[in-house]
Amino acid sequence: TDDFFKNIISHAKEYGFVFPSSEIYDGLSAVYDYGQLGSELKNNLKTYWWKSMVQLNENIVGIDAAIFMHPTTWKASGHVDGFNDPMIDNKDSKKRYRADQLIEDKIDRYEKDGKTDKAAQLQQDLDDAITADDLVRLKVLIEEHNIVCPISGTKNWTEVRQFNLMFATQMGAMAEEAEKVYLRPETAQGIFVNFLNVQKTGRMKIPFGIAQIGKAFRNEVIARQFIMRMREFEQMELQFFVRPGTEMEWYEKWKKTRLKWHMALGANPTKYRYHDHVKPAHYANAAVDIEYQFPFGFKEVEGIHSRTDFDLKQHQEYSKKKMQYFDPEINQNYVPYVVETSIGLDRLFLTVLANSLVEEDLSTEDKKDSRVVLKFHPAIAPVKAAVLPLTKKDGLPDKAREIMTKLKLDFNIQYDEKDAIGKRYRRQDAIGTPFCITVDYQTLEDDTVTIRHRDSMEQERVPAADLRNIISGLVSW
Ligand code: GAP
Repeated sequence: TDDFFKNIISHAKEYGFVFPSSEIYDGLSAVYDYGQLGSELKNNLKTYWWKSMVQLNENIVGIDAAIFMHPTTWKASGHVDGFNDPMIDNKDSKKRYRADQLIEDKIDRYEKDGKTDKAAQLQQDLDDAITADDLVRLKVLIEEHNIVCPISGTKNWTEVRQFNLMFATQMGAMAEEAEKVYLRPETAQGIFVNFLNVQKTGRMKIPFGIAQIGKAFRNEVIARQFIMRMREFEQMELQFFVRPGTEMEWYEKWKKTRLKWHMALGANPTKYRYHDHVKPAHYANAAVDIEYQFPFGFKEVEGIHSRTDFDLKQHQEYSKKKMQYFDPEINQNYVPYVVETSIGLDRLFLTVLANSLVEEDLSTEDKKDSRVVLKFHPAIAPVKAAVLPLTKKDGLPDKAREIMTKLKLDFNIQYDEKDAIGKRYRRQDAIGTPFCITVDYQTLEDDTVTIRHRDSMEQERVPAADLRNIISGLVSW
């Protein structure tokens, strides 16, 4: 599985999906750039989410709030005081670690060594210490379990301290006047502060939702696992406002709806599971993660939280503006309750890569052969079709370009005339293109082409004039 994960990372780089940020300067830790195909795939994933949230639901609208927000936002939301990770430094290597992560790694090691009882006990102790916010207890666990620094190999640790995950910068040109502002650590607050604006101008009636896609920033101390845990990442969040007392119904509904959404992308159902939080965060009365089985284990891709009226009440208190809704059905004013769905776009991207990348053995009795394919759902494939003239002469390239021109208004199309046709098919397989359209000598006579299907590798002959309809039918949701 380590090898599979390495394959995903190198495939993503080799074919222009994901590059380390500023790679010519040796990269920037936990920051990545999406390349020419990665940005297409990412856009398609955003479209899939946006359509299924905003376009298909009359009572959900989308917004695009700024990354910078008034600093009081983060006081009210609890992020200034409570958005922390417990950190510990090794005095010899001068390296900083997340204390809970060091303990998690030890638990993994116990498990690998077959010491399951020890692993379970340490997990329990860790959960207790985290729930109680007990930093001293974390340090004791590190000492009791002889956890050493992975770099220096020593146990020379500092105390455990809280480390706030928000990035701060300054707004205003003059240092004396500058105001400290944060890069948002979640997009959700941009929705909460606009609750009244949207409700009033959109004449929204409860239950209704506000959706948003945008960047979020967290100064993650441990950069691990490629695009799983990044310092700059993208979230797709929905805040769904409901009448108090109905939130658990909606929570259950969204829990089901969101898993179905993942399944509709063609994912293998055995790779997904729910993980209910026994002790949800301070703002929630119920929380569940949708987890995906990555090569390194089941990990959270999406969170669904019943956030109560916590955020709106906090903003009401700090802003002194009434965050209320008048419900004509029951003739009452109230602060709505909120059910949130929050998915990391980059993590979703990684699940899609992990789900799609396959190496197929195509060997026959007389010949060894294999191919690497990205079996994306056609709707999210970065390139929908490749137009390939069989040869570079006799007017075939011109004909192929003519066909491509007609298709490229509707689809992202590639043109490729280099190398033998088999090699070109394989190149398209490796980037997940669902259809290859081959233009040959018969095309010049009767205006038909062959379509080769990526997964079955079967080919059919169709009129060039039908291509638009055929591809549309196959790449739609
Ligand atoms: N508004 C709720 C919220 O932000 P969260 O569980 O902290 O909840 C939601 O984050 C989702 O954002 C996660 O399920 C994950 O997919 C994604 N996410 C969080 N931190 C991330 C990071 N450092 N890198 C990439 N994705 C991240």
